[in-house]
Amino acid sequence: MKRDFLGRTLAVIRDLSIEEQLFLYRKTRELKQKWYNNEDVSEFKIKKRNVGIYIVFVEPSTRTRESFINAAKFHSGENVKVNVFDSEHSSFNKQESYVDTFCMLTGYSDYSIFVVRTKLEGVCRLLERKVGEYAIRNGLEVPSFINAGDGKHEHPTQELLDEYTFLEKNNFDNSFIHIALVGDLLHGRTVHSKVDGLRIFKNVRVDLIAPREIAMPDHYVEKMVRNGFEVRTFESIEQYLKQPDVAKIWYFTRLQLERMGEDILEKEHILREAVTFKREFLDRLPEGVKFYHPLPRHKLYPTIPTFLDPLPLNGWEEQARNGYWVRIVLLSMFGGALEAPFDTTKREPSYEEDFIVPAPITHGEKGVQKDGKRGIKPIENGTVIDHVAKGKTPEEIYSTIVKIRKILHLYDVDSADGIFRSSDGSYKGYISLPNRYLTKGEIKKLAAISPNTTVNIIKDSRVVEKYRIKLPPTIYGFKELRCKNENCITNPVHGEDVKPSFVRNEKGLFVCEYCDTPHTFEEIWSI
Ligand code: CP
Repeated sequence: MKRDFLGRTLAVIRDLSIEEQLFLYRKTRELKQKWYNNEDVSEFKIKKRNVGIYIVFVEPSTRTRESFINAAKFHSGENVKVNVFDSEHSSFNKQESYVDTFCMLTGYSDYSIFVVRTKLEGVCRLLERKVGEYAIRNGLEVPSFINAGDGKHEHPTQELLDEYTFLEKNNFDNSFIHIALVGDLLHGRTVHSKVDGLRIFKNVRVDLIAPREIAMPDHYVEKMVRNGFEVRTFESIEQYLKQPDVAKIWYFTRLQLERMGEDILEKEHILREAVTFKREFLDRLPEGVKFYHPLPRHKLYPTIPTFLDPLPLNGWEEQARNGYWVRIVLLSMFGGALEAPFDTTKREPSYEEDFIVPAPITHGEKGVQKDGKRGIKPIENGTVIDHVAKGKTPEEIYSTIVKIRKILHLYDVDSADGIFRSSDGSYKGYISLPNRYLTKGEIKKLAAISPNTTVNIIKDSRVVEKYRIKLPPTIYGFKELRCKNENCITNPVHGEDVKPSFVRNEKGLFVCEYCDTPHTFEEIWSI
């Protein structure tokens, strides 16, 4: 049974199970207590030989970068080197890719932990995969990657320190939390991480306070609901305080103007007004309320104004200091100093699902059962792909036929295709391939291009095999796939040569495995 966390990557908060997150919070509490009681804390120090901790920030930061540098220095010594990577003067400026850069760095220590902040989204997931492969083929230990914030995607270590701070406020009782998230919920990656991070509490109530222009994206709200959270939405603090059920934990974020388009920026003043706390709101707050903020706050327009600093509701100063402790413990775990009292084997999701289902063959079923006048002749041997895009318009059906032919390389073969009207009045397409048998691999590909079609394998004018193909649980490996998020590391404009991959969620949407952007089936194809 595995008990360590070596080689683990924290790209999104879900990369640590709830049990693992709670373990980290318990250990952080222990470390803080021991430190302030002047007790021995050597059990938290990394003892593994020749470990390199690399701090790689390609986007500005004060708290995350400096608290990680200090947390890494807690571990530094004979065994552990701390390296602050100078990205401005690195070969990134000579167009070196992320993957090449991190492969190089991996070779300079026996074991490496990388703390990485980027504007692009999904970088740590890419590095986990590609640099992991590099390490294995070179006989090196697989390194760890820690996402220190990637674009507007996630900020999992901020999430760890936030949740730790909420637990501290709750005397480490994780049975219930009622929290208000206030501010720029559209661009704030720290609030996006809350969708999963708050699952450490058994009962969760979330109040979302933001004008529509900077509201939490629907897919995150839907995920909160699927996680069992009770969710309410409000457009301003003013509106929120007009109702009686006000949360005792408020989590503010700043307006991320640097990520906003011109259309939103025009309304900047109105948006700020809606999510900035005012003096006259003070006496409408419940007893014992605490305010938190991932910081930085804007020096001219802070959503938590400075007149609140000396008040007991100030929770953000302790919260920021907790970043140091939580990050020490995370490095202790990923550096092998702390082992869990439970199995830490990472459970990869299973995508086993029958999406190619054998269908009954009607006795006497012939090659192609089309109307002889409008259709094609029955084939004696080969494959007929039928029911293509059934129910869609003829234009959509034709475009699906083109997509199938293009991706399965079915242009230079003897073939025919067409669009028919079914007995129920709807349209459907077919492709007939004389003397060409689709392989199982091709049928799997077909499921990813055109689900709900039927494949007939014909021999001696008889249908000998028939399959109904459904939407597969994952789609990957096609050069024609695109994530619609321009900031995603898979987007070709970033030149990292990484093919997107998508996982189908409970709503039938395809979620990018790198940046978590959901897509409809049609949206993932760029043909
Ligand atoms: N909270 C946070 O990520 O702050 P920095 O951008 O200063 O690291």
